[in-house]
Amino acid sequence: MALILANDGIDLKARDALEALGHTVDVTKYEGEALLSRLAEVDAVVIRSATTLGAEQIAAGAKGNLKLIVRAGVGIDNIDVETALEHNISVRNTPEASSNAVAEVAFAHMLALCHNLYAANVTMRQGKWLKKEYEGTELLGKTLGLIGFGRIARNLGQKAVAFGMDVIFTRRTEAPVEGYRQTTFDEVIETADFISLHTPSVGQPVLGKAEFDRMKDGVFIINTARGDLIDDDALLDALASGKVAGAALDVFRKEPLTDERLWSHPKISLTPHLGAATKEAQARIGDVIVDIIKETF
Ligand code: MLT
Repeated sequence: MALILANDGIDLKARDALEALGHTVDVTKYEGEALLSRLAEVDAVVIRSATTLGAEQIAAGAKGNLKLIVRAGVGIDNIDVETALEHNISVRNTPEASSNAVAEVAFAHMLALCHNLYAANVTMRQGKWLKKEYEGTELLGKTLGLIGFGRIARNLGQKAVAFGMDVIFTRRTEAPVEGYRQTTFDEVIETADFISLHTPSVGQPVLGKAEFDRMKDGVFIINTARGDLIDDDALLDALASGKVAGAALDVFRKEPLTDERLWSHPKISLTPHLGAATKEAQARIGDVIVDIIKETF
């Protein structure tokens, strides 16, 4: 039976199921040296985005019994996959389980942006009634441009279509998807009214000054993917000039967010990496983790 470390927690039902199967689940949060020592003792480790498993942590696990790393979520950018594979440690994630939750957060941000919900909420709490100032725009008839077209983007596309939006997408491979028009990155940048990012980190921003300059005036930007996909300075300039009417950010270069220019900005709608943080998504993720552990041990 396996000793499993769930360093960023695990859904309670999944924990119970694993224990019913005879496994031991440690939900203590270890950091630094303590994490290195614990990794040398466990058979499997389950993490979310808060724990990074780099070469040092993986080597520590490899000295002991570590056979499996499960990323409870989609992005595996906080895991040194190459080093894990060199040590014959398999790396799994749960890509389908949280797609709807992330797409809902992105969609909620789209509505919040075009109806000024974020700013209206904040200013009403300050005793203000800014009805004229916060006249909004509607999603109906607007174009949503999706950069990347994996599970989350498709789910978001469905919701947008239901709200009467035109949806276009761009991605590296040419692969038609019924009901959506695949186009070039340039067309998405230049014609969309809303642009939502759905790619993994690519080592450099996908949206920087050159891209913002080419966008429609008054475009809205949504990022529920990864913080480093946007050049923050360029975004702030584009917001200041009015090129970008509003941005919604769920993910940041540095989490928790410390950049005051972002968290205090009146045109940025913020959430603290809440994409997958729903009861339902965490329960689905838990079910997938149980299946992965069953397959492995
Ligand atoms: C993911 O990669 O699954 C999302 O960013 C959500 C998360 O890490 O909590």
